[in-house]
Amino acid sequence: MTAQHSAAEMVDLYRYPIVDLTSAEGAAFAHKCREEYQRTGLCMLPEFILPAPLAALAKEAIDCSDKAYFCKSSHNAYLNDSDPNLAADDVTQRQEQTFVGSVAYDQIDPQSQLSALYQWDPLKDFIGFVLGKETFYRFADPFGACSINVFVDGGEHGWHFDESEFTVTLMLQPPEVGGAFEYVPQIRGRDDEKQLVAEVLDGKRDGVVELPFTAGTLLIFGGNQTIHRVTRVEGKRPRLVPVLCFSETPNQENSETVRKLFWGRSGPDDMIADHNQAGAAA
Ligand SMILES: [Fe+2]
Repeated sequence: MTAQHSAAEMVDLYRYPIVDLTSAEGAAFAHKCREEYQRTGLCMLPEFILPAPLAALAKEAIDCSDKAYFCKSSHNAYLNDSDPNLAADDVTQRQEQTFVGSVAYDQIDPQSQLSALYQWDPLKDFIGFVLGKETFYRFADPFGACSINVFVDGGEHGWHFDESEFTVTLMLQPPEVGGAFEYVPQIRGRDDEKQLVAEVLDGKRDGVVELPFTAGTLLIFGGNQTIHRVTRVEGKRPRLVPVLCFSETPNQENSETVRKLFWGRSGPDDMIADHNQAGAAA
């Protein structure tokens, strides 16, 4: 039986005083995080989750990881359709590979610790403050509000810029081998952006940083400005990373196209069918 912790019991509140952002201590910490995010494009909080709740969160994720829908795709670094009128060697014509599973939010127990953490207003309000948002809401998407990324043996996420401005992820379980989160900070919009992207895709390591994304770390990441990837995972132990989604606007949902791509279903009434066929075949 999994030990149940409230959200406030899961977070190391001595190290990360996020509950009261009007207190002197809370305000100073939140401002420090906001400044770090603005300066570097990310805010990383190691050991954000305490050891016992982390073990329980990881067990929850392991127990529902068989419900992951697997998506295997190729895409360019900008996650858009290549323009056939551009030269064949244009960086947008280069394809990267992604193979990742995701457990949809409606497959996660509403009584789980992960749900409790996602529904916890102090966490939402803290993240909104770091991102400088006047208003901040949890996503309303039935699948993507809070999902769990599952990278099994062979799983990877090729180099890309995110479509969304920011992503919030929580490392619960690193794999045995691989699964490194690599990025090249804030190259979007630079005059030499395309050349830098081409060099990254060519495997050049100049400027590539590996994030020490250890178990229990919360990451707020501006993935729209920073090219990044997850290197190929090897071994039996899956890489398990919940993705917590928020928006400046209420009732935000994913498009049907995105739902179909990542969870194999277009709406909540869609039958949960053939879930693991793609994973089994891969
Ligand atoms: Fe991404």
